[in-house]
Amino acid sequence: MTNSLTLPRPDDWHLHLRDGAMLAGIAPESARHFARAIIMPNLVPPVVTGAQARAYRDRILAATGSEFKPLMTLYLTETTDPADVVSAHDAGIITAVKLYPAGATTNSASGVRDFDRVRGVLDAMAEAGIPLLCHGEVTDPDIDIFDREAVFIDRVLDPIRNRTPGLRVVMEHITTADAVAYVQSQPDDLGATITTHHLVINRNHILVGGIKPHYYCLPVAKRETHRQALVQAATSGDARFFLGTDSAPHTDDAKESACGCAGCFTATNTMSILAQVFDDAAALDKLEGFAGRNGPGFYRLPVNADTITLEKTAEPVTYPTRIETGAGPVTVFDPGFPLYWRVT
Ligand code: DOR
Ligand code: ZN
Repeated sequence: MTNSLTLPRPDDWHLHLRDGAMLAGIAPESARHFARAIIMPNLVPPVVTGAQARAYRDRILAATGSEFKPLMTLYLTETTDPADVVSAHDAGIITAVKLYPAGATTNSASGVRDFDRVRGVLDAMAEAGIPLLCHGEVTDPDIDIFDREAVFIDRVLDPIRNRTPGLRVVMEHITTADAVAYVQSQPDDLGATITTHHLVINRNHILVGGIKPHYYCLPVAKRETHRQALVQAATSGDARFFLGTDSAPHTDDAKESACGCAGCFTATNTMSILAQVFDDAAALDKLEGFAGRNGPGFYRLPVNADTITLEKTAEPVTYPTRIETGAGPVTVFDPGFPLYWRVT
């Protein structure tokens, strides 16, 4: 039995840090264990230019300290200037560009409605080797919310990839067996992030015995067979799958509302949860790849030289149930089972 595990310091390949008092309150939760993170640009207003990304990066560093490395992204709109994207990338300000279909999720109103209108940007990104990160859900009102990811693959993602050869794409926060199978069927210019919470919850957790707003996120958790496919993919050792927590803080009053916001806040206890999930799947040896090696491999960045050590505990680990921020309290994701792994 393994009681201790030393890994390269992990990175979070999909993270929401927000801004202002929320940023100040929650950023240390990620910086404690993670070396780098891909920072989502869905602020209000969104981060759409290289200059905005640079200024946001500086605000993040002020909240985390310089040990943490935020890898910035631009929010793709129908008016994004390909030259600005390429120059921000050449200058080392941005690592990737995020595609939100308009209306798909929190602060996505400025996202893309007509995918033909971003062809020029995507061609420039393919040419410059800049990855496109997709929120993979269609927004058509006639498509059931539980089918929106699978339909996105057929109607949007596969056509974009076919007509933009060389474009490197990450399907963010996948939630279905369909997405797992699609990624597995493609060459390695396609990767996928998997969140901590989608490895733990299925849709029953949200809806059975009363509605649980802190389990509501987008893409919404699917049925149990899909969760099992995600665990299988994450623990398989396949380098195309890597950790992106999608840790997405909202204050408790914004979550516990008649129209509650989407997002699970997992920054605080992600590494303990992942160790428990991988241990329960008899795949602890695969955690290093999922959290520490596969992401840098896709992004062509070095694996962190620094390490963290996880230790198995006799008693369940404790962690705060909520983080108090200047913007209000944020509830920490409750996996619903005891965790016997702690970061030393
Ligand atoms: O649950 C989510 N929350 N999914 C997203 O895509 C956005 C995120 C947020 O920004 O709150
Ligand atoms: Zn997200």
